[in-house]
Amino acid sequence: MTLFSRITGTGSYLPPRRVTNDDLARELAERGIETSDEWIVERTGIRARHFAAPDVTSSDLALPACRQALEAAGRQASDVDLIIVATSTPDMVFPSSAAILQNKLGIAGCPAFDVQAVCSGFVYALTVADAMVRTGGAKCALVVGAEVFSRILDFNDRTTCVLFGDGAGAVVLEASDTPGILASDLHADGAHVGILCTPGHVAGGEVLGTPLLKMDGQAVFKLAVRVLEDAARATLAKAGKTEADIDWLIPHQANIRIMQGTAKKLKLPMDKLIVTVHDHGNTSAASIPLALDAAVRGGRVKQGDTVMLEGVGGGFTWGAVLLTL
Ligand code: ACO
Repeated sequence: MTLFSRITGTGSYLPPRRVTNDDLARELAERGIETSDEWIVERTGIRARHFAAPDVTSSDLALPACRQALEAAGRQASDVDLIIVATSTPDMVFPSSAAILQNKLGIAGCPAFDVQAVCSGFVYALTVADAMVRTGGAKCALVVGAEVFSRILDFNDRTTCVLFGDGAGAVVLEASDTPGILASDLHADGAHVGILCTPGHVAGGEVLGTPLLKMDGQAVFKLAVRVLEDAARATLAKAGKTEADIDWLIPHQANIRIMQGTAKKLKLPMDKLIVTVHDHGNTSAASIPLALDAAVRGGRVKQGDTVMLEGVGGGFTWGAVLLTL
């Protein structure tokens, strides 16, 4: 029996339309809403985000990310025997974006499903894929985070619409005799549903409620810093490792101040922190695989490095995965 799963390739894709804070401020000003590059950078670290064209779906963004990850792993789509897509902005109510992606990849037959844990979606999906690979349920999995968050933003709410962007990241996770994924730790606490949610639903063929994102930013901020520290420590303990073993921390890219707070609590120097939020904004489930791929392609994260991935988001959900690349 296979003992381990290991990431053998990474990929990512950002839609071509890059919107800087100044661009967004100009667009919002036309609606009578005031914001500025200075405010956004100081509070969040975000300088730009990418927005997909109106007809582009999460699976459209996922497809080039998956092709890139497969190429990096030296695999073909026909080698894939499991697809998990983490998304909160799926192409349709059903079927899953994973099933739609499978067809776009030109393959059929393998299990394909979505995982919905908002910004923690990728660490949830990776943990599920790891369990399936280690128990013989798959040998070559595509694990994807893909989002078109621009679709659920309220562009009349400056406290949220400046924070998010669209994109996709993917990894190929394969059965291995040597350890890749070392440990993971997942949590949810539904008592906090109200601080970050998109409280719309479909009934009688109509969208009811509020189909746009709502957030209590300060409550999210406080909870995020606390749970990210707890998840990292719990994951290290499960793996029999300490903070000193971490070569790279790749937290969910929501806000530079949350990331810096987490690194500080873990006593990690800032140069071990991978940061892409300045260029991508918060891409929810896509943020961790996007940051991982940028760090791998940029030559910072190398094979053999020990990497801590950390997600936190609506639900409230949170979790971490420690791995050797
Ligand atoms: N531009 C200009 N001014 C703004 C903007 C904006 N885009 N948004 C809010 N303001 C104003 C507010 O109206 C307020 O003005 P007032 O003092 O006159 O009332 C002032 O700025 C301060 O607002 P706060 O909400 O107190 O600002 P805060 O310092 O808390 O920063 C922020 C807000 C950035 C959202 C912060 O709370 C935060 O980072 N929270 C974490 C949330 C997060 O990152 N969520 C991402 C999704 S969740 C996840 O991925 C885990």
